[in-house]
Amino acid sequence: MNGFETVNYEKNGSIAFVTLNRPEALNAFSVKMRDELFEILSAIKLDDEVRAVIFKGAGEKAFCAGADLKEFLTAPSAVGARHIRSVRDLWRLFTIMPQPLIAALHGYVLGSGIEIALYCDLRVATPDAVFGFPEVTLGILPAAGGTQTLPRILGLSGALDMLLTGRRLNAQEALGRGMVNRIVPREQLLQTAEAWAQKIASCDPIVVRNAKRALILGMDMTLDQGLDLEWRLAIETKEIRKTSEL
Ligand code: CAA
Repeated sequence: MNGFETVNYEKNGSIAFVTLNRPEALNAFSVKMRDELFEILSAIKLDDEVRAVIFKGAGEKAFCAGADLKEFLTAPSAVGARHIRSVRDLWRLFTIMPQPLIAALHGYVLGSGIEIALYCDLRVATPDAVFGFPEVTLGILPAAGGTQTLPRILGLSGALDMLLTGRRLNAQEALGRGMVNRIVPREQLLQTAEAWAQKIASCDPIVVRNAKRALILGMDMTLDQGLDLEWRLAIETKEIRKTSEL
C-alpha cells in the first residue's frame, strides 16, 4: 500500500509505521492527509498481520503543527464538512482501531497533531516536544476529539488548563501529567516505539486486542458495567484461545 502524498505507510512484519509526511509544513494536517490517513487506517484495521501501529512525523521540527492553516479559508461549508465527516470519520476510526497505537513524538505536537497523539495508546516523546491546543486562541474549537480525549488522560482540571488558555506543555510537564509515558533522546525515539511494538507483537493478538477493548470501553462505563465487560472479554479470550489450540 503506497503512493500517498502526505503520509508514508510501511509495514515491517507485524508492525505498521504511519509517517505524517509534509516536513516543509511541519506535517500540518491537511484535507489530503485526512483522506489518506482514513484509507490507511481502514486497511490496517482489517489487517490481522498488523499487531501494533507506530505514528511519527517526518523531519526534525515537528510531529504535526496542527491543522493546515493555509487551507482554513478554503474549508467547505458546515453542511459539506458534516457530510464528509459522516462518510469518512477519521477521528471515530481512531477510537475503534483494534491494534495498539503508539505515538513517537518530537518537536511541535499542536492542534490536530496532539489530537492524533491522544488517540494513541502509548506515547513516547523527545525532550524538545511541545504540546498544545492553540484552537481557542485562534477562535475555533478543537474538533478532532481533543475536548473529549484530553480530560480522559489529564483529568478535567488539567484539560481545562490547556484548552481554555492555549497553554503549551513541555515534555517534562507532559510526562508529569501522564500525557506521555516516557521521554527519550531523539536518536532513541523510534527505537523505543519499536521496542514497545515488538513487545506487544510478541503477545497473543487476541489477548492484546481484548485487553485494549476492556480498558478503552471500560473508561466510558460504570464500574459495575466495566466488571461485566472484563468478565465477558476474559471468557471470550479463553474460548478463542482454546479453539485455536484444537
Ligand atoms: N499549517 C500550515 N503551514 C504551517 C503550519 C500549519 N499549521 N505550521 C507551520 N507551517 C509552515 C509555515 O507556514 C512555514 O512554511 P513556509 O516556510 O512556507 O513559510 C513552515 O511550516 C515552517 O514553519 P515556521 O517558519 O512557522 O516555523 P517556526 O519554527 O518559526 O514556528 C510554529 C513553528 C510555532 C509551530 C509555527 O509554525 C506555528 O505557530 N504554526 C501554527 C500552529 C497552529 O496554530 N496550528 C493550528 C492548530 S488548530 C488545529 O489544529 C485545528 C483543529 O484541530 C480543528
